[in-house]
Amino acid sequence: MIYLDYNATSPLSQSVKCWLKSGEFHFANPSSQHSAGKASRKSINQNREKIYQAFHQSEKEMNLFFHSGATEGIHTIARSFAEEARLKGKELLICFSRTDHPAVATLPENFFGAHVKFLELKKNPDFSYDHGENHRVLLDRKENNPDLLILVHHLWVHNETGHVSKLSDLNKLKTIPDLYIHVDAVQAPGKILSWRELSAGDVFTFSAHKFGALKGIGMSFMKKGIPFHAMMTGGGQQSGLRSGTENPMGVESVALALTDLLKVDVEKLTKLRAKLLAHFEQELKGIGEVVSKGPEEMNANTIYFFTYKLTSDVALALFDLSGLMISAGSACQSGAAKNSEVLLHLHKGASAKNGLRLSFGFDFNEEDLNKLIVQLAPVFNKLRTL
Ligand SMILES: Cc1ncc(COP(=O)(O)O)c(C=O)c1O
Repeated sequence: MIYLDYNATSPLSQSVKCWLKSGEFHFANPSSQHSAGKASRKSINQNREKIYQAFHQSEKEMNLFFHSGATEGIHTIARSFAEEARLKGKELLICFSRTDHPAVATLPENFFGAHVKFLELKKNPDFSYDHGENHRVLLDRKENNPDLLILVHHLWVHNETGHVSKLSDLNKLKTIPDLYIHVDAVQAPGKILSWRELSAGDVFTFSAHKFGALKGIGMSFMKKGIPFHAMMTGGGQQSGLRSGTENPMGVESVALALTDLLKVDVEKLTKLRAKLLAHFEQELKGIGEVVSKGPEEMNANTIYFFTYKLTSDVALALFDLSGLMISAGSACQSGAAKNSEVLLHLHKGASAKNGLRLSFGFDFNEEDLNKLIVQLAPVFNKLRTL
């Protein structure tokens, strides 16, 4: 079996595996004042420093807080701005895209208060953000309501397709007063060259299980000075940014996974993806399509495609039988195929239930690629006979 679902979650990184084997863990509550508690505190502090360094960030300018993962991070930031607006008697406009990860796309289904409104950001037919139009609309809203607070969710690397939406394109939006940008950075680490360059945004949220750390831990870097109201209140841990007993083992796994990630050769992965993409384009002729763009607009590990005939749940079984663990573009919890917002946006409505995603790992190499191509052959043959 070949695991090709890294965008869903990655296996543990080598350093994390070695550390788990060692059995040397800081288990104590870092808030405890005994020696074991102090050792946990020291470990968290040292690992925080490593994480700041990995992302070229300084503690003077950026807060860093850990949470359970990006879903919590996304909700924390939305709730925080809703609270800020409520306290100041303002309206909040949360901007998102229908093709965002469901953690963002379903925000409007939550009740944040009558003062919170939502706006769908416009995307071009080629899947890029229409920054010109979005800037115009937001400026217009701000002129009509000068007190308006705006929170823009920006999906840096798309989880299904691997499209990259550059952070530098956000600079124009940043000129609008009282506008804050939350970057969903979950799919960036190790998958684009600039994954450590956290620019233009105000908050950057990560899930560490996407890059080799334990599950149940994620983090957000947040510019100092931006308004913040904690969602999790309680014992005041993490300087009150996120209460709840801290997670020294989770944090250690993040620092270790990042050490491995820093060694990943993104350019090499990009070249392998280009070869695999060419293979898919060739093999899918007449039976399906790949959704992609030029390499500089795509990440280094994802191929998003669909077949004309098979819904993704059925196609997944076919791939699985050939030893290939890939993923449906979108599936509900029961595993049944549902319409993909990506394919609907791209006007591929007739195939909207057929989206599939293959995402390979950080250590993928030429040998893996050749093996994959061999294992793909019977799948494509079968697809051609349908
Ligand atoms: C782009 C993106 N944002 C947010 C999330 C949510 O992360 P988690 O499920 O770790 O909370 C994911 C997970 O797949 C994602 O890919």
